Amino acid sequence: MAQDGGWWPFERFMSAALYTPGLGYYSGSHLPLGRMPQDGSDFVTAPELSGLFGQALAVQVQQALAATGTAVVCEFGAGSGALAEQLLQALGDAVQRYDIVDLSGSLRQRQAQRLARFGDRVRWLDAWPQSLEAVVVANEMLDALPVTLLHWDGQHWFERGVAWDEEQAAFRWEDRPTDCRPPVDGSQPPSLEDARLDWPSRFVPGTVVEVHPQAEAFMRSLAQRLVRGAAFFIDYGFPEREYYHPQRIGGTLMCHQDAGLGVLGYTSQARFLMNCGLVDLMTQATLPERANAAKLVTEHEMGELFKVLGLAAGPGFGAVGFALGDRSHTL
Ligand SMILES: C[S@@+](CC[C@H](N)C(=O)[O-])C[C@H]1O[C@@H](n2cnc3c(N)ncnc32)[C@H](O)[C@@H]1O
Repeated sequence: MAQDGGWWPFERFMSAALYTPGLGYYSGSHLPLGRMPQDGSDFVTAPELSGLFGQALAVQVQQALAATGTAVVCEFGAGSGALAEQLLQALGDAVQRYDIVDLSGSLRQRQAQRLARFGDRVRWLDAWPQSLEAVVVANEMLDALPVTLLHWDGQHWFERGVAWDEEQAAFRWEDRPTDCRPPVDGSQPPSLEDARLDWPSRFVPGTVVEVHPQAEAFMRSLAQRLVRGAAFFIDYGFPEREYYHPQRIGGTLMCHQDAGLGVLGYTSQARFLMNCGLVDLMTQATLPERANAAKLVTEHEMGELFKVLGLAAGPGFGAVGFALGDRSHTL
């Protein structure tokens, strides 16, 4: 940081915090995933919370495999391997190969141990394959990708970064002028003059928004490579209108966008899981299992905050997970 004038853009700081070999959140020996608080995890994700998450998602994946004529599942950011285990168990022979792409060496080891019984059907890829014929799944992976922070002071945009404060011996926020602008309605403003005229009405002074160059690059790579198949992303998400709402001035980590693939649907996690038969699965489960599964769908827990986006290469199909309550029109 000292070599860079004591300032790093937030995106670089976040990259270093997450991925610095041996030290980063996802690349150190610390294993952050599990079910709180029993195993010391920092947060709980849907597949860690309840096996019924994977069983319900399997209904959608099975339909997508059949509809697109593929027998390969590719998971990005597999964490402890919980979702892979649930999907492999539920889908059985419908999956010939389960490919995992995960940046974290320590999590890859943990996945390998957990998934050993599925033998060589499970593979780990070090890089994107040139072409992908698969049903892609990713739960809480896009929100782990570093973001750029932009700050609107009422007149100008600044890029928010992190500086080292010698006196305080601590990091502090520091903003620098930037030409970068958050995209609105999918487009950049045509000129700075237009931006000055138009943007103050959209953003209150003090607004901080996140833009997602890495998530966008991820989506572009997927769109280029997915020649056959479909993709399902489950993540924190807000449609653009809510995301840029003046009240959301703290920003949030999200990305859902169409980068050239067809949209199968977009809805809340609750609606998606219920469309996939979660309620039936719950009636067959034990009481403690039901209590955990309920958190996946209740509005004040994960049900509304998390969204599911389904994409398809080619003509698409009536995806079961979006049969009722599709909100694609809000994207
Ligand atoms: C929040 S965790 C979610 C894990 C798991 N999907 C779950 O729901 O429990 C994020 C995962 O994404 C992985 N990850 C982060 N950045 C990644 C990237 N650029 N490519 C692939 N995996 C990534 C992390 O190592 C971790 O496994």
